[in-house]
Amino acid sequence: MTKRGVLAIFLTCYVNICFFTHLASGSFPNAQNVTWSSLNFKTLLKWGPSPSADYSYTVEYNEVGQNTGRNPNCIRITETLCDLSNSLSNLRATYTADVLSMPPLGAKSDIIEFPYTSSERFCPFKDTNISKPEFKLEVGKDKRTITLYVKDPLTALFDGTRQLSIRDIFIDELHYMVTYKKAGSSGEKHYISKTSEIVLKDLDRGEGYCFNVQAYIPTRSRNKQLGQLSDIQCSHDDNQSIFDVYPLGVIAGGIFLILAIVAIIIAVIVVCCKRRRKAQKSGKEGVPLRDV
Ligand SMILES: *[C@@H]1O[C@H](CO)[C@@H](O)[C@H](O)[C@H]1NC(C)=O
Repeated sequence: MTKRGVLAIFLTCYVNICFFTHLASGSFPNAQNVTWSSLNFKTLLKWGPSPSADYSYTVEYNEVGQNTGRNPNCIRITETLCDLSNSLSNLRATYTADVLSMPPLGAKSDIIEFPYTSSERFCPFKDTNISKPEFKLEVGKDKRTITLYVKDPLTALFDGTRQLSIRDIFIDELHYMVTYKKAGSSGEKHYISKTSEIVLKDLDRGEGYCFNVQAYIPTRSRNKQLGQLSDIQCSHDDNQSIFDVYPLGVIAGGIFLILAIVAIIIAVIVVCCKRRRKAQKSGKEGVPLRDV
């Protein structure tokens, strides 16, 4: 074989290898639908589809304008989600993440550029959703004041061993929105509180009220300001009038029944009196009634 022939074969092989390797990299499908899902600072990146045995995913995140980082739990994985709660440590920073399609863990590859899909921007402080709070309510002695004691939801973040609440993170940016109405009415009112102990004054005495509460962070963009709504709780109304408790028909029926009983009693008394008088009369005449 000539020198040139050897070169040609070598070149062909080389080109083929390059070509096939390239094809191989091109055959890793891109991740789709890369989305953030974040509640109380537990932040997951999710995507699809589940990979075949031929490839895996690696997540890279970066603070906008900073270096790229990788979470050790999200390198060459076969899952389609990655918990980045502890990676996005600068809570006020804005991050993006890329999901790279790579050869499976342990497989060698000379490829430098992997196909990837980027996420939208995400800022934990501005974007994480806030779960529904729990609260207790207490009716004041004057019956016109109700205090709500809200438990600040806990986050996925820790300071040493102490689990942080949303109050620890948002501090005075955290407000609560109370939505309330009189029991049985449809007119809702709102009250915004800066503290987790919420005092509602000047309520109508003897009326039952129903409440729910949600976190409210006015410094956020409009569609991210409100957290999830709590369950509804109502105050016990011990001064309720009979008209609030029973429908009118039941009350009317009750009154009718009472009147009927009274009428029967009167009738019985009248009949008895008449008889007794008659008996007394006939007794005076000395003739027993039954002998007549
Ligand atoms: C991505 O989202 C679209 C539209 O919701 C859906 O049809 C598609 O199946 C999703 N792809 C994956 C891989 O989950």
